[in-house]
Amino acid sequence: MNKTAVKRIVPLRTISSDSATDRGPRDRFARPLRDLRLSVLDRCNLRCTYCMPEDSLEGRGVFLPREELLTDDEVVRLVGIFRDLGVHKVRLTGGEPLLRPGLADLVARIAELHGVDDLALTTNAILLPRQAADLRRAGLGRITVSLDSLDPEVFRQMSGGRGSVDEVLSGIEAAGQAGYERLKINTVVQRGVNDAGVENLLAHFRGSGHVVRLIEFMDVGNLNHWRREQVVPSAELLRRIHARWPLRPLSPSAPGETARRFAYEDGAGEIGFISSITQPFCGDCTRARVTADGTFYTCLFAGQGAALRPLLRQYADDEPLFAFLGRRWSDREDRYSELRRRRAAPDHRVEMFRMGG
Ligand code: GTP
Ligand code: 5AD
Ligand code: SF4
Ligand code: SF4
Repeated sequence: MNKTAVKRIVPLRTISSDSATDRGPRDRFARPLRDLRLSVLDRCNLRCTYCMPEDSLEGRGVFLPREELLTDDEVVRLVGIFRDLGVHKVRLTGGEPLLRPGLADLVARIAELHGVDDLALTTNAILLPRQAADLRRAGLGRITVSLDSLDPEVFRQMSGGRGSVDEVLSGIEAAGQAGYERLKINTVVQRGVNDAGVENLLAHFRGSGHVVRLIEFMDVGNLNHWRREQVVPSAELLRRIHARWPLRPLSPSAPGETARRFAYEDGAGEIGFISSITQPFCGDCTRARVTADGTFYTCLFAGQGAALRPLLRQYADDEPLFAFLGRRWSDREDRYSELRRRRAAPDHRVEMFRMGG
């Protein structure tokens, strides 16, 4: 397929605004607050080189002490306030969220909140065999699994020598048995590391009902030694994949979606491309982030956040927090990925394992 053909099948992104259904504040670019990504723990049982490289974790003191984590009560209260500001989609992240003790109970409490109509979780799947059924019963709606390669050696190289492909596949299997028949599989593609195995991974999941999303390696945090040469532009992958399994573009399933979606022409399902480096999607970004210690960020690449834990403890009434978050969102002018080429990054960016991706 030539370059022009690739251009033709890339769907156009439109700035969305379904204002009739929006409540709550708009930021400086008129973007509403719709999604909350909530990290429940910054620890992980893997050490992915692009997220938490072992050699950069300067020994002790990197992870939050337990007593600094928000309690379940605080998390639930906060989600309720965000819901009142317009959030209806909540994604639980980490680190590895399944390492948080009592996660299913927390999920059940969030799932019960009226107005939270999409509750999802991003995990490396290793602990799913033990937890998938409980999470399902608790009301978790969707699961996304991170899996970068089916080659055991490449997997271990990228996971910092921890975990295995078989464990992740068992986790995926367990999720299926628990009723999660349509998982999203996130694959961060790095040139010279796992890019050669992309077709293998896609072949494995074609026809399974699961949707693989190929993610451009991002310059999040300060530890992952990001270099532009390691980014494989989605357009390049799209060309390669289209040559083997013809694809057709699908329209976005929701406004502000991170992935551009495509269907295999032969009916084997869907794949997605998350192209924050080459095709930023800030124009549509309605995502707020809260870390496990209750710091609020309005962009994945933010250097500065607002500590909510003291406010949660200071005020028994939700109103001051509601007003504070609303003001913060109204002042928001983040669009880091769009400005990446023009502006240097903040000196200190928050790490992905703390921000939750
Ligand atoms: P859905 O709820 O299914 O749409 O999932 P999602 O794509 O919002 O979440 P997921 O955790 O699966 O994220 C997929 C990839 O997109 C990860 O690498 C995220 O870090 C990245 N990502 C998610 N939100 C943003 C964002 O607002 N900006 C950027 N630059 N990347 C994002
Ligand atoms: N670039 C792109 N994606 C990343 N993730 C973690 N670090 C990076 C990075 N530097 C992905 C994980 C997970 C999701 C939450 O973020 O693979 O699927
Ligand atoms: Fe853990 Fe996910 Fe980070 Fe890998 S990307 S180290 S699985 S939090
Ligand atoms: Fe949103 Fe920031 Fe990501 Fe842009 S870079 S899409 S503003 S989180």
